[in-house]
Amino acid sequence: MNNEKNNAKEKKNFSSKEVLITNASSNFQLVEAYKTLRTNLLFSMPYNKQHACRKILIVSAEAGEGKSTTSVNLAETLSETDTKVLLIDADLRKPTINKYYNIESRKGLSNILSGMNTIEECIYRKSETENLFIIPSGLLPPNPSELLSSKAMIKLLEEVDKDYDYVIIDAPPVNIVSDGVLLSSMVDGVAFVCAYASSTYPEVAKALSALKLAKANIIGVILNRVVNKKHKNKRGYNYSYKYRYKNIDAADNSRKSKEKE
Ligand SMILES: Nc1ncnc2c1ncn2[C@@H]1O[C@H](COP(=O)(O)OP(=O)(O)OP(=O)(O)O)[C@@H](O)[C@H]1O
Ligand SMILES: [Mg+2]
Repeated sequence: MNNEKNNAKEKKNFSSKEVLITNASSNFQLVEAYKTLRTNLLFSMPYNKQHACRKILIVSAEAGEGKSTTSVNLAETLSETDTKVLLIDADLRKPTINKYYNIESRKGLSNILSGMNTIEECIYRKSETENLFIIPSGLLPPNPSELLSSKAMIKLLEEVDKDYDYVIIDAPPVNIVSDGVLLSSMVDGVAFVCAYASSTYPEVAKALSALKLAKANIIGVILNRVVNKKHKNKRGYNYSYKYRYKNIDAADNSRKSKEKE
């Protein structure tokens, strides 16, 4: 019974604001983990003069594994350096990015893709002095997959290419809807989020094979919700935020060679 209670505690989700690295109470480990992720990302996608804007899609196999949290924190961390970042909420079914920034989602990606509004009308700037720009999801459309796989989406990504150093796109879960796979061929790299002690090998393998079939450039895996027993934050939960970036093929090869032994 006690164990059940403890497990329930550990599984408690933080509210959107609590897991935002800019929150005053954010712990040092969390901020450092995202800085490490930023550095690893810079190395895995080196700067290219001809094609300076790097578009990164954030996906995971199942729901609730931390895609939106990762997208927001990664966009925040990247924009702290001298880079201009655009964060797009491409989860047109269950949008959340607007909640992190208290912005309305009535004008956003779905409006641009359906021709209702221009890009300029749907871009929000975090603040006058910050380098972070946001396109929320917009009105909930009846046909998200069609909109996301349309020429309008390709055109939008081409248009923002010249204005930003990074475009971070938050997608829905790959095993639940096809949107993430559809978007994977339009970006430079796909970062795959796994939830520690929750994502299972069959789920991850299924999602990765769908992405590989679409010839997605999977640049790494982000391990979210790593429990650090040494650290207890003041609310008493022992979740820490440790992000690891690994080359998927390397991990896969090492697993295969272990299996052979
Ligand atoms: N490292 C973490 N520690 C504690 N809570 C977390 C962590 N990462 C995410 N959460 C919480 O888990 C919940 C789900 O996270 P998030 O919305 O980022 O997942 P998601 O993969 O985008 O979900 P969906 O598939 O529904 O879009 C949120 O309440 C978020 O605050
Ligand atoms: Mg999400």
